[in-house]
Amino acid sequence: MTETELILNKSSMLEEVKSGLFQQQKSLPSKFFYDERGSKLFNDITELDEYYPTRTERKILEDNIEEIAKYLGKKVLLIEPGSGSSSKTKILLSNMQNICCYIPMDISGDYLNKVAEQLRTEYPNIQILPLSADYTKPFDLPKSSPDARKVVFYPGSTIGNFKMEKVQQFLKVIHDIIGKDGAFLIGVDLKKDIEVLKAAYNDSKSITAEFNKNILNHLNEELGLSFNPNLFDHKAIWNEEKGRIEMHLFVKEDHSVTVDDKVIDFIKGESIHTENSHKYSLNEFADMVSNWFDVKKVWTDEKDFFSLQYLEPK
Ligand code: TRP
Repeated sequence: MTETELILNKSSMLEEVKSGLFQQQKSLPSKFFYDERGSKLFNDITELDEYYPTRTERKILEDNIEEIAKYLGKKVLLIEPGSGSSSKTKILLSNMQNICCYIPMDISGDYLNKVAEQLRTEYPNIQILPLSADYTKPFDLPKSSPDARKVVFYPGSTIGNFKMEKVQQFLKVIHDIIGKDGAFLIGVDLKKDIEVLKAAYNDSKSITAEFNKNILNHLNEELGLSFNPNLFDHKAIWNEEKGRIEMHLFVKEDHSVTVDDKVIDFIKGESIHTENSHKYSLNEFADMVSNWFDVKKVWTDEKDFFSLQYLEPK
């Protein structure tokens, strides 16, 4: 980024922070979790005993790989929005013969290009075309994309982290990019025993707590603010009406923090809402996507904790 872009970036970040903290229910945008420490902590979360989603989704992929390959077709152009380290996608790239090209997508171009280089060495027979773009808005595929069936892979139940109104916008973007012959392979976390859900987001080693509080450290560093993370307690709660786990930072004692030109008061017992993770029944999910897609096949694990779903466009 150029110097001007950096300044613009910081001022828009500051605006987002201020507008979230001025609401009655204070909130912060979850994208600010991910600085270097945040990404590392998130990786640690995925390896926790209580955090079932990552492990379960990987197992569903491994156990059903041949059938998944059949559904995807003979010649596949695989597109992954928010690919990160592509670690789950490697299960597909390593075990399916029908993928001719892989387009990993991420906002951070530097990291994306590094991962792409490694993938080229690991998979010399698959064309790797990294695309640095924001997939929540309409985007174009690289001009050099080969002619093959477009399949979007979106693991991790990340769709559950979107605000309800953003979900439909996202589904339309995916619907439009794959075209009428394409497909959408998506990981979706399912409703289950509430105690299992709460444990997954309130782990006994408090890694999720560290991750949640790190948003404050990140803002301190990036914007020169002076949050004291020790004055907040992490707690993830189940919101039955909205069908979601909510992550909050509860204020332990009254204090205030200056953000830009404004003093923001934090009152003991109130919270900053930092993240949502929606959970679905199979019917709720099929309904939610029904403007754009038909669910054609669902794979689950033996406990029905998580699902991998194969969708075709309407
Ligand atoms: N989509 C995953 C989930 O909701 C990953 C995730 C996003 C997450 N933000 C998180 C996990 C915060 C733990 C804490 O489970």
